[in-house]
Amino acid sequence: MNTPDWDQLHRTAVEISKKAYVPYSKFPVGVAGLVDDGRIVAGCNVENASYGLGLCAECGMVSALSASGGGRLVAVLCVDGKGDFLAPCGRCRQLLFEHGGPELLLMTADGPMKMAQMLPWAFGPNDLDRNDR
Ligand code: THU
Repeated sequence: MNTPDWDQLHRTAVEISKKAYVPYSKFPVGVAGLVDDGRIVAGCNVENASYGLGLCAECGMVSALSASGGGRLVAVLCVDGKGDFLAPCGRCRQLLFEHGGPELLLMTADGPMKMAQMLPWAFGPNDLDRNDR
């Protein structure tokens, strides 16, 4: 896999952030991810009158990943309503870890960072092998 086209991911994230449904926070988020087969998947946040049920943009993107054929995420870029890079929330780092693992690249204000750095000591699918199930 070549270097991710971060500009393309940024354009895609900004575009989908405009579709965010955020009547409560008024904080649109858009996210785009490069899949290991070259596909780009994206998502925006979708809030709910029952505030705690709001879906982060990353949830939508992970759904789109599975719905469009699955695969592994290799690079992810998330933006706020101004188009500035946004560090995914803790819960979403866990979601992204599941589908990209420790080598997944996340764009930050300090440049691309590996998931291993954004979510150190992560709990993941391999940990489930510890117990007999
Ligand atoms: N949000 C995301 O969509 N992703 C993140 O990683 C951080 C937060 C959303 C949730 C809520 O709709 C709004 O941003 C304000 O917290």
